Amino acid sequence: MAITKVGIVGGGLMGSGIAQVAAQASYDVMLAEVNQDLLDRGMSRVYDAWEMLAGKGKITAAQAGEYRGRIRGTLNLQDFADRDLVIEAIIENLDEKKILFTTLDGILPAGSIIVSNTSSLPIMEMAAVTGREQRIAGLHFFNPAPLMKLVEIVRSIATSDQTVEELRTFAESLAKTPIVAKDTAGFVVNFLLIPYMLSAVRMYENGIATKEDIDTGMKLGCGYPMGPFELLDYVGLDTTLYAAEAIFKEYPDPAYAPPTLLRRMVQAGRYGRKNGKGFYVGGETQQ
Ligand code: CAA
Ligand code: NAD
Repeated sequence: MAITKVGIVGGGLMGSGIAQVAAQASYDVMLAEVNQDLLDRGMSRVYDAWEMLAGKGKITAAQAGEYRGRIRGTLNLQDFADRDLVIEAIIENLDEKKILFTTLDGILPAGSIIVSNTSSLPIMEMAAVTGREQRIAGLHFFNPAPLMKLVEIVRSIATSDQTVEELRTFAESLAKTPIVAKDTAGFVVNFLLIPYMLSAVRMYENGIATKEDIDTGMKLGCGYPMGPFELLDYVGLDTTLYAAEAIFKEYPDPAYAPPTLLRRMVQAGRYGRKNGKGFYVGGETQQ
């Protein structure tokens, strides 16, 4: 089945970036949020990116206009009834995602694909609440979605070969490089990346070095574009904590156990750049 109409649920950091790349790749895109304020914020992030690109001469004003014409916002998931593919990019919470998958399954045509952009959660549990488990998979973009070239296609034990191939074609049409991973917590990249970020927090908690020196160490010593604390602020401390909890649940190894400081930061509402409060934004962190 050819995918032409794409729905995205959740217009936060990831959903807005995915909406941007899908509209640029000529898809008819509809973005859903829970209220008008959040929908406006998600749409503005996309419009601002195109304005920035036009300002830099990377796209023309006419292209920016064309892209804008391909994306619409909605607060009503019934508007997704004609979507060929829906990408779920809501909060990293399995219960919320399962409720959403049940709702989408009742709205979308039987052949449409529903994917989750989850960082870590089991795809099979989302598939099991639908009547189309062979058409469910993970499609994991990386942050920032418009710039990062990788997409993980996560196949559950029920995902069909055809679904995987259609998602591979879709990812390539967005100029992304897909890799395929099994439905195990953290898939490929986060299974390696999350314990690295958690180790950095533990190192800071234990007073081995300042967060600035840890970041400098990894940037200059390993050539990483961001140090682990910059990356935590960028990815979202809340998202990292929820992903770590999900991986720890499946692999109860201390390497995946969220450190106390990360929990306290999230309890304090310090989510990182997205709400202006994190390791480097919004004031000091007392140890
Ligand atoms: N669309 C298109 N282009 C954009 C853009 C957008 N929305 N936003 C920025 N750009 C362009 C800019 O115009 C700029 O282009 P020029 O250099 O030609 O002017 C270019 O992209 C770079 O922009 P910046 O100067 O803002 O960025 P930078 O050079 O400082 O790099 C970064 C920023 C790409 C984020 C880099 O720091 C980086 O790679 N960081 C690491 C990110 C990372 O590791 N991501 C993975 C996180 S883990 C994850 O996502 C999985 C999970 O489940 C948690
Ligand atoms: P975010 O907090 O920035 O955005 C989530 C958005 O979803 C919010 O705007 C919220 O209002 C909306 N939402 C929640 N429930 C909804 C519902 N029922 N219907 C419509 N909208 C709803 O989160 P994010 O960083 O964009 O992460 C989204 C998903 O992508 C998570 O599963 C996360 O693990 C994953 N992910 C995150 C990153 C990252 O670096 N932040 C990278 C890859 C994957």
